[in-house]
Amino acid sequence: MPQLAIETSCDDTCAAVLDGGAVLSSIVSSQEAHSKFGGVVPEVASRHHLELISPVIEKSLSDAGVGLDDIDSVAVTAGPGLIGALLVGLSAAKAIAAPRHLPLIPADHLHGHVAANFLEPDAIEPPFLCLIASGGHTLIAGVTSHEGFEILGETLDDAAGEALDKGARLLGLGYPGGPALEKLAAEGDAERFEFPVAMARDPGLDFSFSGLKTALAYRCRDLGDSGTEEARADLAAGFQAAVVAQLVAKLSRAIDAGRWPTVALGGGVAANGPLRAGVTALCKERGLRMKLVEPALCTDNAAMIGSAARFVEPIRYPDYLGFDAFSTGDRR
Ligand code: KG4
Ligand code: ZN
Repeated sequence: MPQLAIETSCDDTCAAVLDGGAVLSSIVSSQEAHSKFGGVVPEVASRHHLELISPVIEKSLSDAGVGLDDIDSVAVTAGPGLIGALLVGLSAAKAIAAPRHLPLIPADHLHGHVAANFLEPDAIEPPFLCLIASGGHTLIAGVTSHEGFEILGETLDDAAGEALDKGARLLGLGYPGGPALEKLAAEGDAERFEFPVAMARDPGLDFSFSGLKTALAYRCRDLGDSGTEEARADLAAGFQAAVVAQLVAKLSRAIDAGRWPTVALGGGVAANGPLRAGVTALCKERGLRMKLVEPALCTDNAAMIGSAARFVEPIRYPDYLGFDAFSTGDRR
């Protein structure tokens, strides 16, 4: 029987229908409203989730060719994320599950990004190394089971996506900045401006991205308005190259530190072409298997939540009625 999965942890309203590891439908409604603010405004996100959640769920069901009475469980992101946004998805999940006495399965958002790699076709099995780079998190996960992962290294300050979003904003691009920056960078010369690759000499597996936006801000100040305008594509290319270089360097170090047969990616930044190319080249050089999930499953979606939920103990009706979402921390 199919499962309905719901994800509303940030600014994308997402629902999917799965049959085991097969995705029958996956709907993502990205909220345009945040673009003019240059970042996600939590209250605006919650209000939009409220408006979008029902139509998004209905579309996921109709695209899968099923009705609510065909669903045998409801998976939902419990955290981490924006608490007001999470509560919209959780409330919708309870409202669908409770009257039908269906089990509810709470999933961790980061586990979801890892679990996108367990979806058909071409599902991979643990053990593997997984770089998760998104707007809120950047970490290297050692995945030895379907149920969870060990954090081998993580960012000490900004996430990679956050850095790209802030860099894009400095260059006058809208939110989300990552895809816009990638597009602009494709026309630029990454060699013209050098940006610092932080933590390069640090022996550990942690990341740091907060110095990059300062470096870009100083560059823009030195170039002045017209100089920045003329150099925008080159600045974008150099900035993106520095983010990618750090991610690839730390992944390379993690590969050396263990015996991982396979490397996978997850999170919105994993949709980035130069990062995918860099990690592919790295895996080729080391003779490792590379798993690249399609870009639509890298950015936030509910199919990955349904995938993670397959490895989580369901909560039976009515025990989940008082179940709460969590904004930060780890409840895996
Ligand atoms: O995983 P995600 O959709 O949401 C979070 O869990 O944060 O990641 C969103 C982040 C944003 O910072 C966005 O700019 C970045 O992923 N992103 C990209 C690309 N697509 C999304 N960054 C670089 N290149 C892309 N193509
Ligand atoms: Zn995410």
